[in-house]
Amino acid sequence: MCSYCGCQSITVVGRFMAEHDEIINSTGELVRAASTGDAERVRETARVVAGLLHPHTHAEEVGLFSVLREQEEFTDHIDVLCGEHSSLDELLEAVAAGAHDRAPAFEKALRTHIDKEDNGLFPAAAMSLDGTEWERVDATTPQAAAPLTDGRGHLLSQTDHVHDHHHDHEHEHEHGSSQSHPHP
Ligand SMILES: [Fe+2]
Repeated sequence: MCSYCGCQSITVVGRFMAEHDEIINSTGELVRAASTGDAERVRETARVVAGLLHPHTHAEEVGLFSVLREQEEFTDHIDVLCGEHSSLDELLEAVAAGAHDRAPAFEKALRTHIDKEDNGLFPAAAMSLDGTEWERVDATTPQAAAPLTDGRGHLLSQTDHVHDHHHDHEHEHEHGSSQSHPHP
């Protein structure tokens, strides 16, 4: 199969599936926050989910989806999935804006949507697209952003270089490199 399916290009699919896991894990944090009714924490966790979700669905839509969509048997299905991307955005915004009781519905809709991609669309794409089409998918898919979370739903510290934490530990990185580490 690898000799003609453009196997290497299917790293795009591997990336999307890994991003799905990350999005689901961060949604777990959102649902937990919503269950406590902590509005500030809900807004924070919703921001993390949105920060993962938006670049991901955009990458799917402009790359893989647009190439697959050219094949008639996929057109309707792709349109349904794109519609779900929009309704997931709306639901997430509603939760962030205070509809905490809708967080479980968001999680359920997200899981159902991701299942359709992981277990339906992606395997079908692997069977249907040829090497040239995978090359087009690769060429049109935006690069993945730097990781936002640790993959388990926790936001990676973005304040490492701001140093708002106490210096009760040794830094492992070496100073004197070309990178500067401002120490206020
Ligand atoms: Fe997806």
